[in-house]
Amino acid sequence: MRIIRCKDYDAMSRKAANIISAQVIMKPNAKLGLATGTTPIGAYQQLIKWYEKDDVDFSQVSTYNLDEYRGLSHEDPQSYHYFMRKNFFDHVNIDLANTHVPDGSNLDADEACASYDELVKSVGYVDLQLLGIGNNGHIGFNEPDEAFSKGTHCVDLTESTIQANSRLFEREEDVPRQAYTMGVQTIMRARSILVIANGEAKAQAVRDMCFGRVTPHVPASILQLHTNCTVIADDAALSLCPEIK
Ligand code: PGA
Repeated sequence: MRIIRCKDYDAMSRKAANIISAQVIMKPNAKLGLATGTTPIGAYQQLIKWYEKDDVDFSQVSTYNLDEYRGLSHEDPQSYHYFMRKNFFDHVNIDLANTHVPDGSNLDADEACASYDELVKSVGYVDLQLLGIGNNGHIGFNEPDEAFSKGTHCVDLTESTIQANSRLFEREEDVPRQAYTMGVQTIMRARSILVIANGEAKAQAVRDMCFGRVTPHVPASILQLHTNCTVIADDAALSLCPEIK
């Protein structure tokens, strides 16, 4: 695990965007695993700027998002389908037909998850997986548990995740209680992984991810076992990791 410290959110976002754009420049038809949440927005904005300057071309890229709330239509402003269009896809030359997000509008969880799994497997998994990390150490919506998850599955969100995500909804009771998420095993099959984290609220999770025991109680801790995983975090998120200068 490579851990890169930077001073703030903007520096973290630019470094992450650099790595993603390098991937696309090296392999124009790269398969990118993408993430939602507040953390990656700055990286997406930077990529849009470079696209506008003709520095990066997404025309052959395909994308596979980590997760989606169960029960939201693709047009629902709270859905991750909508988030990806608004924050990234609508602003670059990616072919929307090549963008993939688990189908939260399909209430048949078994079918929705199996078909997403089949899709990611059929393309040979992603070249680069971008990840945020939850305050509780989750990746995607893989919450702390007794075992690491495997393929795409339906999860009940924990109280801590519902509360953390409620800031994006009008009322806490509006936060969906379930989501479809790529499993930890699928995430680990990515050829490279890029985790981004900022802010003090993430400091303990980042400490546990990078230096704690590998345990399903901190799903992100398994990333220590990935052979090509980079963490980019700001000073605040690394405040409990003095060994990283
Ligand atoms: P955030 O979420 O980027 O909104 O902090 C990260 C996550 O929960 O994975």
